[in-house]
Amino acid sequence: MNSQLLKDTVKLLFADNKGLLAMDESNGTCNKRFEKLGIPQTVEARRAYRELIVSTPGLAESIGGAILFDETIHQQKSDGTPFVKVLIEAGITPGIKVDTGAKDLAGHPGEKVTEGLDGLRDRLQEYFQMGARFAKWRAVISIGKGLPSWGCIEANAHALARYAALCHEVGLVPIVEPEVLMEGNHSLEHCFEVTEEVLRTVFNQLYAQRVTLEGIILKPNMVLPGLNCTKQDSVEDIADITVECLLRAVPAAVPGIAFLSGGQSPELASARLNAMNARFKSRIPWALTFSFSRAIQQPALEIWNGDEAMVVVAQKELYHRAKCNRAARLGEYSASLEKTAS
Ligand code: 13P
Repeated sequence: MNSQLLKDTVKLLFADNKGLLAMDESNGTCNKRFEKLGIPQTVEARRAYRELIVSTPGLAESIGGAILFDETIHQQKSDGTPFVKVLIEAGITPGIKVDTGAKDLAGHPGEKVTEGLDGLRDRLQEYFQMGARFAKWRAVISIGKGLPSWGCIEANAHALARYAALCHEVGLVPIVEPEVLMEGNHSLEHCFEVTEEVLRTVFNQLYAQRVTLEGIILKPNMVLPGLNCTKQDSVEDIADITVECLLRAVPAAVPGIAFLSGGQSPELASARLNAMNARFKSRIPWALTFSFSRAIQQPALEIWNGDEAMVVVAQKELYHRAKCNRAARLGEYSASLEKTAS
């Protein structure tokens, strides 16, 4: 294992207070988002949208790494330049989603386990050769009546740890993403309990699989009340309880934590990340940043809406959201930035 390469990659991804852009939606997920807006669900529409993203002027000011999907890592701009080359030349490190999706977990109704370990060693080597320097694997955990089960948490944590160890073998930094979903009417406190248990289990499994923590990035959910919970807590309370949970469960050896947005509005995701950094910067041992997909992309996607004439306006919005999130990493985001920055 080349520990120096892993550490250098992490440093590069988070240099200058940047964060990550997740643009690794599977074709199914991307098509669903296109369908809602009436955008054709074709390879060419997905390619054109991804071209819009990777060629956004100034994106590298806020984004250190972009996570691609298998289809996207093989695609090019309309002038033939591979997306990977475009990103590298802009100063953005390419990454790749390598799991093959969350499937029903046998014997556990309502729960999923993420697949993709079979043949993973060879796929990781190919992606490394194509220029990827980090990878992503997402596990999903639902909160509900009697859920999550111990069997689901353990199976997902085990797969995350096996994936992370394989990444290290080839020199890729693994993003370890155990996502506790927002769907449900559970309270903030309940989400805290589940998230703590999930994170502790993940780190136990990472230890069991001999994964060097200095070479990983954790991508967790923020601790949030369920979408249908009648009490929606304040930005400050969410920041406090999320950091409390992470301080309990995430070893200080982990260099960076990059949150997923999980369906929060773009403004709330920025405000909550900002509050964590503004209130706890001196107490936290890790870089606390973003690896958002929807909370960065969604407004730009809605502006573009499949219309070539809207590319530049959509790119300005994408740039703006990335900039707001970099400000949030610094604890310098404010509602007024929403109006002025672009
Ligand atoms: P969201 O920010 O939209 O939750 O996506 C993050 C991600 O990468 C999901 O795997």
